[in-house]
Amino acid sequence: MRQPLVIANWKLNGSRDLLKAFADYATSQSAESATLPVAQVICPPVIFLAEAVRQYPDMVFGAQHCSEHTSGAFTGETSTGMLQSVGCRYVLVGHSERRALFGETDAQVAAKAKAIQQAGMTPVVCVGETEAERDGNETSAVILKQLEAGLEGVDLAKLVIAYEPVWAIGTGKTASPEQAQEVHALIRSWLQKQNSSVAENMQLLYGGSVKPDNARDLFSQVDIDGGLIGAASLEPHQFAAICKAAQDS
Ligand code: PGA
Repeated sequence: MRQPLVIANWKLNGSRDLLKAFADYATSQSAESATLPVAQVICPPVIFLAEAVRQYPDMVFGAQHCSEHTSGAFTGETSTGMLQSVGCRYVLVGHSERRALFGETDAQVAAKAKAIQQAGMTPVVCVGETEAERDGNETSAVILKQLEAGLEGVDLAKLVIAYEPVWAIGTGKTASPEQAQEVHALIRSWLQKQNSSVAENMQLLYGGSVKPDNARDLFSQVDIDGGLIGAASLEPHQFAAICKAAQDS
């Protein structure tokens, strides 16, 4: 039985006030949320992480990005050791925005995922095809390549994978539950070939325009164990509604 997991990816949004709004909302709901068997992780901009962990010890936090290097002349970067030292627990890797806008390669994804694991945190490795790749019937090949290359040498037992079709991110277009399930099943069958108990236990998240009104149908698919949420994670009520959908499915 896999525990549902819902991760908020705030991207370049949010503030101390938004963190407080989330914490206040959680407190106001605490009688109910204490019973929620859904793991929730907030990934705010890295500048807020240390303070967030200190101020809101009941919440779990992650980072959106890290360096694959441990130290040195890498202006603007944050190492996995630094993130771990302030209480960060998860780190997103290979998000399509990092791949497209910052040139993150599969080899870097693997190096970062290994560095995150070595620092004792959990990598959330994102994979997904573009619209052109889907239209060209290349979805399976693209996903398998991203898995093979992006997880090379990574401990599959200490990992979360998120399927995020690039065409569904921030566009309001969501993959249908069937389209999402098809790729999730592909990922799980690839994992099965590596190690069957890993495949059985791996939390596979769907991301891409998940909203309270479509979350339930997506999360009720057999291989979808939760979500990676962008825009709808910036509003405590919406995020909570998505977590509730994960709990119910
Ligand atoms: P979205 O973003 O929910 O705004 O589509 C998801 C993501 O990029 O992780």
